[in-house]
Amino acid sequence: MHSKAKEKSYQEAVKSLDALLEHETNLVLKMATINSVLRDALPYYFWTGFYVVENGELIVGPYQGTLGCLHIAFGKGVCGTAAVTGKTQLVPDVHAFPGHIACDSRSQSEIVVPVNGKDGKLIAVFDVDSTELGSFDAVDQKHLENLLSRHFG
Ligand code: SME
Repeated sequence: MHSKAKEKSYQEAVKSLDALLEHETNLVLKMATINSVLRDALPYYFWTGFYVVENGELIVGPYQGTLGCLHIAFGKGVCGTAAVTGKTQLVPDVHAFPGHIACDSRSQSEIVVPVNGKDGKLIAVFDVDSTELGSFDAVDQKHLENLLSRHFG
């Protein structure tokens, strides 16, 4: 997607999410709504969802798309790497990422953003996959990091 069009779509989607979630506190409600609004606004979102921290691992939470892996260990794959480093992972080609976990072989590129709670501790990671190479860039990273820190932090 052209970066100008992408920027505009994010701005509109974030605006509606900010309005929708202004008074909401339930984590599942917020995660489900973020998936729905972003996936509808951004056509290259093939799989979008949260893996939440539970009992020392990541387990699949609210998502949209084909069947996701149910459990991911800390440090494994792109999600597990985002979880242990606390840093957004921008992966233009998943086949070039050592240890990438292929839940659906159609995924070609992805972004995973760590999600921290109010106490600053990791509560989840947000994972978006695309069926095309190089779909995600600094525009996705900026909007997703801002959105997630505002609504969960
Ligand atoms: N690709 C991810 C696994 C999750 S799925 O793509 C839904 C990873 O390597 O962490």
